[in-house]
Amino acid sequence: MSSEKIIIAIDGFSSSGKSTMARRLANTIGYRYIDSGAMYRAVTLYAMRHGMIGAGGSVDSAALIAALPDIHIDFKVEGDGQVTMLNGEPVEKEIRSLEVSSHVSPVAAIPEVRHALVKMQREMGESKGIVMDGRDIGTVVFPAAEMKVFCNAAPERRAQRRFKELSEKGAEVSYEEILANVNERDLIDMTRKESPLRQADDAVLLDNSEMSLDEQNDWLMNLYDSITGAKA
Ligand code: CDP
Repeated sequence: MSSEKIIIAIDGFSSSGKSTMARRLANTIGYRYIDSGAMYRAVTLYAMRHGMIGAGGSVDSAALIAALPDIHIDFKVEGDGQVTMLNGEPVEKEIRSLEVSSHVSPVAAIPEVRHALVKMQREMGESKGIVMDGRDIGTVVFPAAEMKVFCNAAPERRAQRRFKELSEKGAEVSYEEILANVNERDLIDMTRKESPLRQADDAVLLDNSEMSLDEQNDWLMNLYDSITGAKA
């Protein structure tokens, strides 16, 4: 097997299990894991806290664009996982709330926001050895990534998983609310002008609707082995 490090891009629909599999793969092979969605979520939290999101959910994009130089996002490694830091403050729990989920896609559709975050993401991948998950990693951030996966599952399965995850964390949310959020984000993510969600031509499709976590991890590891083995 080649010891040369590669870039691994994992894209897909909301709550399709990307983050879980990307994190696990990164831990197994000793790569850095970056959750690009957490970065869009952190920018959204900043906008919410600074009154840049109106009652109807409209985003004051001019104010947010002007504030971009003041928004610093980082990840702090903690045990096996990592904590998203917004201007030095840990915000991991807050950015996973349904409130942030309901505002993130319009924020992520603002071209200037995307340019700023894509620049940071490319810097993080400069020395390779990285697994990054998101919506545009294989198409825009790292079009030359050696391994690309595109993840999907039936919307009802994805909503069930997210419902279980949030309920276990004690959040008071209904399955219906989550399903509506999953469908709404998918639609905004796929139809936005700036780098819409789509499968890269050279990405391998994974539909994990009927897969267990272990089956999904084995599938990913096999793909990784075949790609890095072929490069030796
Ligand atoms: O909740 P889930 O894991 O599905 O989403 P996420 O990965 O945390 O991303 C949250 C939102 O950020 C997405 O619905 C997209 O609107 C946006 N996003 C994006 O536009 N580009 C990325 N590379 C990652 C996320």
